Amino acid sequence: MKFSILSGSPKGAQSVTMQYILYIQKKHPEHEYNIFNVAQIIKRLEKDQDRFDEIIEAIKESDGVIWAFPVYVMLVCSQYKRFIELIFERKREDVFKDKYTMVLSTSIHFYDHTAQNYIHAICDDLGMKYVGNFPADSWDLLYPKRRARWLLFGEKFFEAIEMKLPTTKNYHPLQFRDFVYQPGEITQKKLDTKNKTILVLSEDTDDSTNLGKMVNQFVKSISNGIELININDIDIKGPCIGCAKCGYNHECIYKDKDGFTEFWTEKVMKTDILIFAGTIKDRYLSSRWKLIYDRAFFNNHTPTIIGKQLGYIISGPISQIPNLKEMLQAHVEYQDSNFLNSITDEFGESEDIDALLYNFAKQAIDLSVTNYIGPRTFLGEAAMKMFRDDVYGRNRFVFLADHEYYKTHGVYDTFPQNDERAKKLNEKLIPLMKIDKLRNNINMMDEFLRPFRKVLSDPNK
Ligand SMILES: Cc1cc2nc3c(=O)[nH]c(=O)nc-3n(C[C@H](O)[C@H](O)[C@H](O)COP(=O)(O)O)c2cc1C
Repeated sequence: MKFSILSGSPKGAQSVTMQYILYIQKKHPEHEYNIFNVAQIIKRLEKDQDRFDEIIEAIKESDGVIWAFPVYVMLVCSQYKRFIELIFERKREDVFKDKYTMVLSTSIHFYDHTAQNYIHAICDDLGMKYVGNFPADSWDLLYPKRRARWLLFGEKFFEAIEMKLPTTKNYHPLQFRDFVYQPGEITQKKLDTKNKTILVLSEDTDDSTNLGKMVNQFVKSISNGIELININDIDIKGPCIGCAKCGYNHECIYKDKDGFTEFWTEKVMKTDILIFAGTIKDRYLSSRWKLIYDRAFFNNHTPTIIGKQLGYIISGPISQIPNLKEMLQAHVEYQDSNFLNSITDEFGESEDIDALLYNFAKQAIDLSVTNYIGPRTFLGEAAMKMFRDDVYGRNRFVFLADHEYYKTHGVYDTFPQNDERAKKLNEKLIPLMKIDKLRNNINMMDEFLRPFRKVLSDPNK
């Protein structure tokens, strides 16, 4: 059989992900494997239509397509995202229709499910026969049992093609609303930012789109302290190439070559309120937005937008993409900021959106003034615990700058073995719990409430 492998690593043949493909190739040399490093050569594919068409032709000739990529900031890297956009822009969905496909990601398992969900939905949008996904840990290939599991998965894929097995669909096509937003006059008093600063990053800033109009309406409701930047104007010379040089000192290799580091540290990190604005493109925002998230990875796993209010203005059917909503919220939560809301053009009339935008601005300022940061859900809480374990352990030698930050910012203090309160409690209570008579007579519900009652009855708390 013939396979087209769409490699989503900027490192191409040098990537960890490709080693997994080479392993399958070694075990099954009877098949033909055509590897296309589409993420690595994305600039060329944008400019050189012939090269793009050659890849498309090879896909047409193949029995199966393998999407193989590293997870980059909860998704695929911006270059791979751009390749997916090109398939739709150049209207080549037909080539993918009814092709058997499987998905391989490598990562540390941090939001690999959202990346996998994204590609799965893209496969459904392309009408492919989706056999399954393999969310590998980067190191899986180094362990015999895990290696065997990968091989078995690959063989199941081959079998599905040979036997022409039926496949299920998981995602309905997105429904885009045909609606033109017409902003009205702002009749309420313009809002004072009360010494707080607001930065709006948007990919549209003129009035030719719903997004641009929503953003401008938002900006108009505020009297002072607000800056609007079009993300296409940020000086970015290139995408993240996964070199991991930043791991040592949080310095990006592009630091002196373009303006991104300065933009992030001087603008984004210094403002109190952030509003990110974008349009839904396939099952995410644009690849330009993804580029910004990827480039901000020079800070690795340390939060850099701490203590801010962060909300979204979105044009397009985000309510139909819970996967994207999860990513946006998680990103805010593990940054130790407060997730405000997403205002969209999906529901209501123009007057309703006007009212929502005004209220959005007011809420952002009010919450910023009170320094309100909501508690994290599982999304942010689990994220930091994963980072903590990985940076403390197997990836410390790569992410030394993170390790220093975690040491000095109390991140390691929350390791179970460092939790002094929990330690004392367990020392006292575990011996008592082992006494049958005591344990059987204890009213656990009452015991749980004892410390709460202290808080409720104390007038000073
Ligand atoms: C910019 C960047 C972002 C990353 N984001 C994630 C992530 O969100 N989740 C995760 O588990 N790993 C993440 N990783 C780690 C890679 O997914 C992992 O190291 C992968 O195996 C690299 O594969 P490659 O060598 O094929 O590019 C990221 C790495 C880089 C360079």
